Amino acid sequence: MYSEKVMDHFRNPRNVGEIENASGIGEVGNPQCGDIMKIYIEVKNNVIEDVKFKTFGCGSAIASSSMATELIKGKTLEEAWDLTNKAVAEALDGLPPVKMHCSVLAEEAIHKAINSYRENHGLEVWKMKTHSETIHEHVHGN
Ligand code: FES
Repeated sequence: MYSEKVMDHFRNPRNVGEIENASGIGEVGNPQCGDIMKIYIEVKNNVIEDVKFKTFGCGSAIASSSMATELIKGKTLEEAWDLTNKAVAEALDGLPPVKMHCSVLAEEAIHKAINSYRENHGLEVWKMKTHSETIHEHVHGN
């Protein structure tokens, strides 16, 4: 059911932890499953120099946050913003359909972290998208 990559990132998650005095923090939760993800970013010259996460959630949420942090490290804020949950799932060699919402948490947590950084620095906050489709899938997946 789960790819090798999902199992690897679930068993050995990269970038676990928190960053003290982080430039930006994003916390999101899924009300249906109760899982929570928190992402910390350290930004210098518009580049994400460091990123850590804490996820209280299922294996797919842990694997998604681990992969997502790997994918945005060293990227500009614009590049990190463009990382979709689908790209995270693809990088993990796929997630089962009922687990796609777990990757959405990663995308949303990154967006929130970036916006919290932008807000703290008097920059315009970017518009977050909604993922009602994925949440819908989740409701029926249970
Ligand atoms: Fe909800 Fe994975 S994040 S079950």
